[in-house]
Amino acid sequence: MDFKEKVVLITGASSGIGRASAIKFAKKGAKIILVARNKIKLEKVQSDLNAFNTSTLVCECDVSDKSQVQLMSKKVLEKFGSVDILVNNAGFAIYDSVANLSIDEIESQMATNYFGMVYCIKNFLPSMIQKKSGHIVNVASVAASFGLPGIAPYCASKFAMLGFSEGLKHELKGTGVGITVVSPIMVRTNFFDHPSFENMPKYSPTSLSPETVANAVLKAANSPRLEIIVPSIVRGAVWIKETFPYLINPILGSAFRKQLNKKEQN
Ligand SMILES: NC(=O)c1ccc[n+]([C@@H]2O[C@H](COP(=O)([O-])OP(=O)(O)OC[C@H]3O[C@@H](n4cnc5c(N)ncnc54)[C@H](OP(=O)(O)O)[C@@H]3O)[C@@H](O)[C@H]2O)c1
Repeated sequence: MDFKEKVVLITGASSGIGRASAIKFAKKGAKIILVARNKIKLEKVQSDLNAFNTSTLVCECDVSDKSQVQLMSKKVLEKFGSVDILVNNAGFAIYDSVANLSIDEIESQMATNYFGMVYCIKNFLPSMIQKKSGHIVNVASVAASFGLPGIAPYCASKFAMLGFSEGLKHELKGTGVGITVVSPIMVRTNFFDHPSFENMPKYSPTSLSPETVANAVLKAANSPRLEIIVPSIVRGAVWIKETFPYLINPILGSAFRKQLNKKEQN
């Protein structure tokens, strides 16, 4: 797809997959709106994008706060009129058992990962429908297909994102607006800097680079598909889990429980 002059809004653009996606869209001549909570980090990404000579806007915004998202979208729509591509990427996880997590910790993951996406969609979708064009890209995870010990609330937020996207995709048929979910396996980003991951192996040898996932985000922005799993071979694992859950779930459960038990012994 030709992204030249397209208006692309990316949440969670200050780091990792969001930052890598911003760079790739900017290289293709898109105008980029960078959204996250940390203004200093966003301005650093903005200065990295200067090399591509494209228009950029930094918006400091906590997507879990609906009034902040409303203000941010007002500012964006006043400046750009509409958004062509909305990338809902802001997200985080807290690694611990449900028994140990507080209700606030569980709610906060849903608030950012799921409701943050809902608030952005609610604010930008009307102008996309009016324009009869645009694409929403939701960055989920393979955790949208596997409920895993230690990250149950995170998985719930990503299952919710996938279910919402599937329902919305049906509703959008014939409107000219598309929606695609990008579901990567582990990615080498700041995601694992959260203190709850302390003493945990941060990356596996199969971990992806944020650039690999950013390539999938760009592909998703012009895709008729509901979900792009990265790498695509993992779609086979999802199929096996859905077809033979009694075979794969005990293996997965046991491996991830061992990890969680190790954390609890520390
Ligand atoms: N890394 C992985 O292994 C992995 C695997 C599958 C899926 N994912 C998903 O990929 C997405 C991006 O994560 P990443 O791996 O690139 O991690 P990351 O480097 O930690 O980036 C997360 C981004 O989200 C922003 N963010 C967090 N909470 C926010 C909030 N309330 N409002 C606005 N922005 C917020 C952060 O910026 P501020 O702190 O400045 O707000 C940061 O820019 C997440 O949705 C994550 O669930 C990651």
